[in-house]
Amino acid sequence: MPADSATAMNQEEEAALREWLASDADSRNTPLSAGYQGSVYLFEGPAGPRIIKEAIDTWPQRLLARRMLRREAGAYDRVNGIPGIPGSFGMLDDRYLVLEFVPGKNLRDPDNGITDREAFFAGLLNIIKEIHARDVTHNDLKRKDNVLVTASGEPVLLDFGMAVCHRRQGFFYRLLKRMDYNAWIKIKYHYATDQITEADQPYYSPTLLERGFRQLRRFWRIITFRQWRKARQRAKSSR
Ligand SMILES: Nc1ncnc2c1ncn2[C@@H]1O[C@H](COP(=O)(O)OP(=O)(O)O)[C@@H](O)[C@H]1O
Ligand SMILES: [Mg+2]
Repeated sequence: MPADSATAMNQEEEAALREWLASDADSRNTPLSAGYQGSVYLFEGPAGPRIIKEAIDTWPQRLLARRMLRREAGAYDRVNGIPGIPGSFGMLDDRYLVLEFVPGKNLRDPDNGITDREAFFAGLLNIIKEIHARDVTHNDLKRKDNVLVTASGEPVLLDFGMAVCHRRQGFFYRLLKRMDYNAWIKIKYHYATDQITEADQPYYSPTLLERGFRQLRRFWRIITFRQWRKARQRAKSSR
């Protein structure tokens, strides 16, 4: 992929975007997310709204952040055209990833607008299967803020920052694919894995690693008195 593959943007849009990017970061709108690798902005351009993922520019994270963003751009390219995934305009100046903005509510929002849960999660499973068919695993599905719900209740899958484009369908591909399905189950059932229907059972097979983490989490809850603290908090707030 060329370093500047934002070819699908027209010249006017690209110029407006560069001007906006050159402006002081504080004068842009507040980022939708900000982490140690970079920030995510909404750019209201002449050709419509775009999402701009910006790699952090300070040392020592700079090189790694750009590399990660380039990898993410590569993954978006690989899954390009799958319904339910934002289109990508590629990298700009090796520092910004430009994406189509898809309006929707975050799955994390209690008021996310899902009316038909079965249909929603079936749609999400389809998207996951489509990306797997292109040898891409997502690897960050447990984060509900990586899934949007459109106004018509359809799922949108975002954030390929952790995704892997596999060279072949080998051991790691199969392992990560399985972990994507497990994550789908966890978000669908809010971790209540004892309630999985028979039809969904084939999508849940925790790996040794995941089982280990589960035990660790349980142990952590016990030693930090989590239940006890929660009950105390509840009692306090109801007072
Ligand atoms: N293409 C998009 N359309 C609409 N909203 C988006 C899009 N991409 C990202 N977002 C919003 O920005 C947030 C952060 O983007 P994400 O790609 O998940 O970045 P991060 O790597 O910081 O988690 C998402 O949770 C979502 O709310
Ligand atoms: Mg994210």
